[in-house]
Amino acid sequence: MSTAEEIVDIRVRVRGLVREAEGVLSVDLEPLSGALPAWEPGAHVDLVVAGAPVRQYSLCGDPAASRYRIAVLREPDSRGGSRAVHERLRPGDELVLREPRNHFSLEPSPEYLFIAGGIGITPILPMARAAARSGAAFRLLYLGASRTRMPFLDELAPLGDAVTVIARDEGTRADLVAEVAASPGALVYACGPERMLTALAEAVPDAETRLRVEYFSAPEIEYEPGGPFRIRLDRSGLELEVQPEESILEVMRGAGVDVLSDCESGICGSCETRIVDGEAEHRDFVLTAQEKAHGDCMMVCVSRAACPLLVLDA
Ligand code: FES
Repeated sequence: MSTAEEIVDIRVRVRGLVREAEGVLSVDLEPLSGALPAWEPGAHVDLVVAGAPVRQYSLCGDPAASRYRIAVLREPDSRGGSRAVHERLRPGDELVLREPRNHFSLEPSPEYLFIAGGIGITPILPMARAAARSGAAFRLLYLGASRTRMPFLDELAPLGDAVTVIARDEGTRADLVAEVAASPGALVYACGPERMLTALAEAVPDAETRLRVEYFSAPEIEYEPGGPFRIRLDRSGLELEVQPEESILEVMRGAGVDVLSDCESGICGSCETRIVDGEAEHRDFVLTAQEKAHGDCMMVCVSRAACPLLVLDA
């Protein structure tokens, strides 16, 4: 079996667990040996808990620290990943992580507008701290149902007036159009529920260049059914047909090519595969408009070919 991407596993130990808010537990992870790989704000890791699905979590600690921190919202409707963390994880447990990847990196800018909804604060927290350290102008809007369910309010306090907390049970609502209009030169980074991100995409006039988002779940979009196309897997030497009802990921797996995946709905970036030749029809929510236009990689779980033969590095 060949792999589309080298997967680097890291063995870690749970150093501590902290209840950060109602339903939110943070997990402090230390390496079993050596040093943990470096990361930058926006990065996430895949967490492998025995007997539970592999899930992705944003790193939300200090990139300069020798440990990692993630925060996990208990989701009753989840596939079991968050339940396993909340119910089974204990200090001293050993776990496997996959090395940090970053599809939501903080690009240099003199000004930022950060918008976090609920647990979406996890990638935004280190971003806001990095902006503060760099001397960039920034504002952070933190939206949630109630302060009791919003983690890291205490850690945001040192950022002072740059942070606005908007809790629904206090009767306040965010006017995203007005907020975006108040920062016309800012690069906008947002993470939160789909409804919030969809509203934001409409509120930012030049969203393709100014808006960077990270989704929790994929927006539902109806696509026209396309025709079949062929893929050639450069390293495996395979040429395969992809039918309209199949994903490239399914066809690769069916041929014995192991591709890393998590969401399988175009929001996590796990299945990113390099395009050697041909053009993709991008249907993911990970790559920016510029990255899609550049055309050197694609998410094979949802994206398709915009040409008869697509050659992939797999
Ligand atoms: S598996 Fe998540 S983007 Fe493809």
